[in-house]
Amino acid sequence: MCGGGETDIHPLRLTILMRAARYKQMGTAQDVLTIGECEAPTPERGQVLVKLAFSGINPTDVKARSGSFPRVIDKFQIPHHDGSGIIESVGDGVDPSRVGERVWVMLAAGGNRYGTAAQYCVVMNDFAQPLPDSVPLELGATLGVPAVTAAYCLFSDGPIAGETVLVSGGAGAVGRAAVQLAKWGSARVYTTVSSDEKMQIATEAGADLVVNYRKPGAVEQLVGNGISRIVEVNLAENLTLDIAISQPGMKIVSYAADGIDPVLPRRLLMSATITIEFMMLYNAQKEKFWAAVESVNQALRDGKLNMPLVSYFSLDEIATAHEKVEAGSSERVLLRI
Ligand SMILES: NC(=O)c1ccc[n+]([C@@H]2O[C@H](COP(=O)([O-])OP(=O)(O)OC[C@H]3O[C@@H](n4cnc5c(N)ncnc54)[C@H](OP(=O)(O)O)[C@@H]3O)[C@@H](O)[C@H]2O)c1
Repeated sequence: MCGGGETDIHPLRLTILMRAARYKQMGTAQDVLTIGECEAPTPERGQVLVKLAFSGINPTDVKARSGSFPRVIDKFQIPHHDGSGIIESVGDGVDPSRVGERVWVMLAAGGNRYGTAAQYCVVMNDFAQPLPDSVPLELGATLGVPAVTAAYCLFSDGPIAGETVLVSGGAGAVGRAAVQLAKWGSARVYTTVSSDEKMQIATEAGADLVVNYRKPGAVEQLVGNGISRIVEVNLAENLTLDIAISQPGMKIVSYAADGIDPVLPRRLLMSATITIEFMMLYNAQKEKFWAAVESVNQALRDGKLNMPLVSYFSLDEIATAHEKVEAGSSERVLLRI
């Protein structure tokens, strides 16, 4: 049983049993997440079965489980998009030589019951990307949602070498990845944070200038630096600052929707002559999405993405792990499978 009461074992097929966390309805972590044993999925055409080492938890996973955006659950959902592990078997149409490959996994729970909070998951072949031998599996499980989002926001209009970009919230999961990827992309990187602890995280990530946006003088430190692009975590709160430090032609890429919706001051935006782009990973333009994935892969191969601070939990502790993400942890949260 997969933690939910009924038997999931297929009577005729040779099965791999696995431990998995899952939910059948949305609600609080303690109320709806259960752990149990069930049949591992079989990779269908174009899919790979990954034996997971780590499962990464992001805000999107806890929002999906909590019901922030209600949707119909077909029988059950094993949560979490991100993970890392080894390819165990492949479906028809996938190169069998991939078996045994170390991979980082992304978007596993997108339209798929089998997310990464389990011993095995299935994903489409391309959603299991090769992990260079030098990259630990732990790091692989922190990449999917944050790093691909960061790469998309930075590079959706092409290379940024020689430009100056601002990453708002450079100590967050996406923000820190954006700082590292922008440095990899040869940009000058400014970032904003709210505390000394986060200032240290963003500085260690490689930012050229870290500014506390809650203290007076943030605008003065950022203005006049030729910022061409802002990777924006909180458009509503930061729009005034973003406009104040803008130059004509600047682009803001907004990827988060926590808190209130922004009110757009059209006259000021027109006068500033700036563009705002909105992006959602699940619905991203395919070409730009795969270009972002390739940027992450190249940065990994170049050794330019390193391990964030991480809190580890076991699969059995998944509810507590979700609560840590919900509390806005400045550490990434991983399950050791
Ligand atoms: N569109 C997409 O496809 C996509 C993809 C990934 C993530 N997201 C969303 O993006 C958000 C962030 O994700 P995450 O994983 O990076 O979360 P996270 O690790 O919790 O980081 C969020 C960071 O934003 C900072 N922040 C909040 N308000 C800020 C402000 N006004 N100025 C500067 N920094 C600010 C927070 O620090 P302080 O509050 O201390 O400043 C925190 O460090 C979530 O809502 C997530 O769901 C969307």
